[in-house]
Amino acid sequence: PNTKGQIDFHNVSFTYEGASGEPVLKNITFTCLPGETVGVIGSTGSGKSSLINLIPRFYDVSEGSVEVDGMDVREYNLKELRGKIAVVPQQTMLFTGTIAENIRWGKENATEDEIKRAAAIAEAESFIKAAPEGYDTLLGQGGINLSGGQKQRLSIARALVKQPEILILDDSTSAVDLTTEAKIKKSLKEYAVELTCIIITQRISSIKDADKILVLDDGKLVGSGTHEQLMADCQVYQEIHYS
Ligand code: GTP
Repeated sequence: PNTKGQIDFHNVSFTYEGASGEPVLKNITFTCLPGETVGVIGSTGSGKSSLINLIPRFYDVSEGSVEVDGMDVREYNLKELRGKIAVVPQQTMLFTGTIAENIRWGKENATEDEIKRAAAIAEAESFIKAAPEGYDTLLGQGGINLSGGQKQRLSIARALVKQPEILILDDSTSAVDLTTEAKIKKSLKEYAVELTCIIITQRISSIKDADKILVLDDGKLVGSGTHEQLMADCQVYQEIHYS
C-alpha cells in the first residue's frame, strides 16, 4: 500500500522535560492518509503546536509512537525524516537578502523555475513581480518592507521549494486574507496532489473543507471528522464555530 506522506499517532502522550503537572498531550491517536489535508483546531494552549512538533522530532513522545510513512520516527536518520517534512512556523523568519534567497533558504540548489513555481502556489508571484527588482529585490535592511501576509506567503513558498511529502502550516495564513488563503489551498490541491498537508488554525474557515479536522481541548483529542460531522457531534467544535 502507498504510505508516502502518511502520519500515524498511536496513543501519544507528551510532557515537556522538567514540566510538572498533567501532560500537554494525552493519549492521542489519529491517522493522516497520504495526500490528505488535515486541520487541527483548538483554543490557545490546547496543544496544537506541541502535537505537530512531534512529527519532525523537534520533541520526542513521552508515551506511544508517531509514524511517518509507516515507520516510527525514532527509527529514521533525522536528516532523512526532516527532508520529508516542511514546517511553516507561526513566526515567519525572513532575513536580509533577496526574495529569491529567502525562498531558496534550506534548499540552496533550488532552480529558478522551482522558486517561481513555489512562489506561484503560495500566491506570492504577483507581489514579487510588482517589487522593484522582482525576485532580486532586497528584503529587510535597505530593502523593501512586506506586509505580514506577504511574509507568510514567502514562508510558504520557502517550505514548498523543498518539495516535501508533508507540509505543516502552523497558523501560517493568519495574516493572509480569506480570498488569498482560498487560492493558496486551491493551488496546493492542484499542483501538489500527493502532498499531505496539516493546517493548524484558530479559524474554522481555514479548514472547513479539509478531509479531516482534529479538535484539541486541553491536550485531548475531543473530536475528529469532517466539518459537517463535527458540527453534528462535537461540542467543542460547535463552540469554536459560534464564538
Ligand atoms: P497556540 O499556539 O497559542 O494556539 O497554542 P497551542 O494549541 O499550539 O498550544 P501549545 O502546544 O503551544 O501549548 C500547549 C501547552 O504546552 C501550554 O500549556 C503551553 O504552556 C505548554 N508549552 C508549550 N511550549 C512549551 C515549552 O517549550 N515548555 C514547556 N514547559 N511548556 C510548553
